[in-house]
Parts: sequence; structure tokens; C-alpha cells
Amino acid sequence: MAAIPVRESPLLARVGHVPLVEVGSACELAGCRVFATLEGVNPGGSIKDRPVVRMLMKALQTGHLDGERRLLDSSSGNAGISYALYGAALGVPVTLVVPGNASRERLDRIRASGAELILTDPLEGYDFAVAEARRLASEQPERYWYCDQYSNEENWRAHYDTTGVELLRGIIATTGRPPDVFVAGIGTGGTLTGVGRRMKEAYPATRVVAAIPDEFPGIEGLKPLGHPGDMVPAILDESLIDRRLPVRMEDAIPMCRRLARAGLFVGPSAGALVYAACRVAAEDDVRCIATVLPDTGERYVSTGLWAS
Ligand SMILES: Cc1ncc(COP(=O)(O)O)c(C=O)c1O
Repeated sequence: MAAIPVRESPLLARVGHVPLVEVGSACELAGCRVFATLEGVNPGGSIKDRPVVRMLMKALQTGHLDGERRLLDSSSGNAGISYALYGAALGVPVTLVVPGNASRERLDRIRASGAELILTDPLEGYDFAVAEARRLASEQPERYWYCDQYSNEENWRAHYDTTGVELLRGIIATTGRPPDVFVAGIGTGGTLTGVGRRMKEAYPATRVVAAIPDEFPGIEGLKPLGHPGDMVPAILDESLIDRRLPVRMEDAIPMCRRLARAGLFVGPSAGALVYAACRVAAEDDVRCIATVLPDTGERYVSTGLWAS
């Protein structure tokens, strides 16, 4: 079957190249600077635009999306919005399996873009949504092309080629040196693996800290790892991780509100990552930390995050 032509969309040029902001003032730490990419300004409102566009374009170029089959994947919400947005822009039909507790803003926005939504039991967690997508893909291969962001190599490569480069370039241009530490959360492991690999290849002394919620359902976008039965994403390169730092919603929310008052309206995972960066800065002798602010705070209005 002939591949459908790869359509141009002006939106694609707006993905990445986001502002690099300094968030260290939220920690009130002397002697350590914390820099982060403001990913909420991507057209889809989150860092997931980067890997989703890369995976979609690759699938179109290689003919996996042939005009007959639907793109299928599981998502905790942000990737779902990106798939729905760019699928609509590029004329690719999209089906998403999403846990039913994804925020109202996410679910409505996915539906608004015309994607088909299959909701799974919130109590079963993300891993169940992943298993459900796998089941659909294997039972109906003529209907679905399974993008599988947890195993798709284009996911981490997007961060290796864009997020990692932007962080390194921006930080070196500002401070004259690379960061000592990169702090990341793990959803699929794409950000940690892509950025971590880029930084360690260029500067082997860079340490990678993974911020991991220690409870379920934890922090939206971040996977709890380390419990028996937790699915470890295939693309996550655990050898890059130098330290695992537990983060809790109780730590993330106050930081999120401090960031909002500093002009950075971001979601709870950004609060968790900046909190983790501040912990690292307080405990270790580091001068510069890099991280990401994964999504916009708009996405959490219905959760009550901003209510008080
Ligand atoms: C809300 C949110 N979305 C997406 C991501 C990206 O995770 P990954 O690249 O591991 O899929 C994160 C991780 O920091 C996140 O917090």
C-alpha cells in the first residue's frame, strides 16, 4: 500500500526552541543556579510535542501510517493531546487509550481534536492503559498502527536532538559551563534517556537524578518505579541514572505555587522536578542544575491545584 504524502504543517516549526528560564530563586539557594526549559509553550502545551512529532513524522516517512490504519497509543494525557493535535494537523486518524482519571482539560482537548478516546479504569493505573493498547494492537493489526511511545526509539532521539541540545547550549551560553546535574522525571523515559545520553556523551561528569513519585497515583506524568510489578519502559536507559530521589505531591504543589508567583504557570511535575533540583542543590556541592518544566498549569485547573 502506498504511503500517504507527508503533509506540511506550520505548527511543526513551533515545536521546541522553548525559553530557558532560571528557577533557582524558588529554592532560595545561594551558590547554585537551576535552569529549565519552559515546555508549556509548545503548541500542544507540553514536552510531549517533541517526541510525538518525531514519532509521527517517522511513521509517515516509513509508510507505517498508510492512510488506512489509525495511529494507536496509550497516554496519561499529555502525549494524547500531542497525538490528537498533530494527527488532526497532518490528517492522521488517532485512537488513544487513557486512564479515566486524566484531568478534564486533557480529555476534552483530545476529544475536541477529533481523536477516538478509550478510557481505562483509573484504579488500574497507567500500566493497564499500556496493556490495553497492546492488546488492541495485536488483536486488530489491520485497524491500528501501534506507535508505542514506551518502546519507540524516536521518542528518546527527539530529546537527544532537541531538548538536550537546547539545555546545553542555553546553559553554556549563560554560565560558560555545562550543568553538573540533570534532574528528570520518568513517564516513558524518553526525556531522561535522550537528554541524559546527550549530556553524558558531551560531559561525562554530568550526573542524572531521577525524581520518582513513591506512591500511587502520584504525580501526573511521572511513573512510580521500583515497586514489584511496575513496568519499566523499554527505552529507559537505567544505566544513566546516578540517583533516584523520591518526590511527593505534598512537595510538588507548594513549589508549583511558588513557580506560579514567579511567573511560571506550570503543572505539578514541574513543581516536583524543581523541588528535586532544590534538594540536590542543598545536599550536594553543585553549582548548576538543568531540568525541564514539562507542561502548563492550565491543564490542572479542574484538579483544584490552583483553588487555594
Ligand atoms: C507531565 C509530564 N509529561 C511528560 C513527561 C515526560 O516524560 P517522558 O519523557 O519520560 O515520557 C513528564 C516528565 O517529566 C511529565 O512530568
